[in-house]
Amino acid sequence: MPSGEPWREDPTISGGIIDAAAYAGETLQGLASQPKVAGAAAEGTFVPFAEVDIRTSIRPTVAEIDLGAVQRNLLRFRHVIGREAAIFGVVKADAYGHGAVPVARALEPLCNVLAVSLVEEGLELRAAGIRAPILVLGAYYNRHQDDVLAERLTPVIYDRGDLDRFAAAAARRGQRVDVHIKVDTGMSRLGIPITDLDATLARFRDLPSLRLAGLCTHFASADVPDPRTTEEALGRFEAVVTRVGQAGFQDLVRHAANSAAAVRFPHARLDAVRPGLALYGAMPSETVPLSGLEGALSLRTRVMAVHQIAAGTAVSYGGLWRASRPSRVATLPIGYADGYPRHVRDAAVLLGGRRVPIIGAVCMDMLMIDVTDLPEAALGGAVTLIGRDGTEAITVDDLAGWAGTVSYEILCGISKRVPRVLRDAAVTPLGPTSTPTATP
Ligand SMILES: Cc1ncc(COP(=O)(O)O)c(C=O)c1O
Repeated sequence: MPSGEPWREDPTISGGIIDAAAYAGETLQGLASQPKVAGAAAEGTFVPFAEVDIRTSIRPTVAEIDLGAVQRNLLRFRHVIGREAAIFGVVKADAYGHGAVPVARALEPLCNVLAVSLVEEGLELRAAGIRAPILVLGAYYNRHQDDVLAERLTPVIYDRGDLDRFAAAAARRGQRVDVHIKVDTGMSRLGIPITDLDATLARFRDLPSLRLAGLCTHFASADVPDPRTTEEALGRFEAVVTRVGQAGFQDLVRHAANSAAAVRFPHARLDAVRPGLALYGAMPSETVPLSGLEGALSLRTRVMAVHQIAAGTAVSYGGLWRASRPSRVATLPIGYADGYPRHVRDAAVLLGGRRVPIIGAVCMDMLMIDVTDLPEAALGGAVTLIGRDGTEAITVDDLAGWAGTVSYEILCGISKRVPRVLRDAAVTPLGPTSTPTATP
C-alpha cells in the first residue's frame, strides 16, 4: 500500500541507501582538456579524465566546471575590450576555485599570458606542462628567486631587496631577465610608492642582469559606482609611465585593469588587461556593463535523507528554524566545510527546476531544505546550489548576496573536498586567436 512518501516507493532506494546499480549510466563526462603537443593544443585528441556519476559517487556533491564557458567568457570579454590590449588571464587561487591546471590549459591558446598570485601556483602550472608566460602578481618570493627564474616565471617586484636578489639570481644564470615593477597608485596594498620611483629606476642602472619589461598597478575601486577614484589612480599611473619613459626605459608593457576596470574604463586598458572574475562568468558589481557571461561553475548534490516533521519542530543547530506546519525536510550532503557559506539568509537551492528554501543553520557537512511543497522531492533527487536547472538558475552572485559577501569569496571558498568535474567544452575547437601583442 502506498505510504504517501514517494521516496519510500522508489525501487532504487532500499534502507536509505541510494542504489548505485539502479542509477548507473547517468554520467558526467569529464575531460582533462587537451594534451599539449609542442605547446599548442592538439585539436581533436581528447583525454578522458574522469567519469563521475553524481548518483553513484560515494558522496554525490560535485562542482562541475565548464571550461568551454571559461573560453567563451574570454572571447566575450575580448569582444568588449577590443583587440588592442593583450589579455593576461588571471588563474590565481586555483583559478578562483575552478582548478588552475585545467583552466590554464583551456585559456592558454587564448591568452597572451597567465597570471598567478603565488610562485607556488606558477610552479604547479609549469609542472603540469603549461608553457605560456606566467606572471607572478603576488610578488612574494622569500629566497626562491632561483626557482622563479628556473621555471620561467616572470616576477612582479615591489621591493628593492627583491630587485637585488633577482639581479643576483639572473647573473648566476648568466641571463638577462624581464621583471615588472608594481607601483602603488592609491590602493595602499602592494607596490612601490610613487615617491620611490626615481630611486628604483636608478637602481636598475646598476643591475644589468634585469630588464624592466613591465609596469603595473592595481585599482582598489574599479567596481564602485563613482568612477573618480579609479580615474585618479589611472592619472597617477599615467604620470608614472611618462616619467619612466623619460628616464629612458622603453617598450614596457603597461597593465592595470582587472575585469571591472577593463570593461568600464577604456583608457585603463593600456597594453594589457588582467581579467579574473569575468572569465569565470561573474562580475564584481552591477556597475559593470558586461552581459552575456556564463557561470563556469555549477555546484550540485543529491538528497541524502527525507523526513516528515510535525508543526513546531526545530531544524538544525540552535533551532533557528521551526516548522509552522507539518513539513517535509530534505537533507543535503554539503555544508560549510565544502565552502557553502554558513551565514546565508533567505537562501535557496534548485530541485526539479524549482526554488526550494534552505532552512535552519547550515552545518559543517549538511544542510536542510523545506520540500513540503514539492512532493516529488525524493531521496537521490538532484539539487543545484549554484548553476542552472531547467529554466531556473542560481548564480554565484545570488549566493554571495545571501551570504553577505562577494562572488570571489564564494568561488575561492569551495573546498578541496568537493570534486571538480570537468566538462568537455574545455576542448571546444576554436577559431584563429589573436597574435600575442605583449609578453611579460
Ligand atoms: C593584481 C590583480 N590583478 C588582477 C586581478 C583580477 O581581478 P578580477 O578578478 O576582479 O578581474 C586581481 C584579483 O584580485 C589582482 O589581485
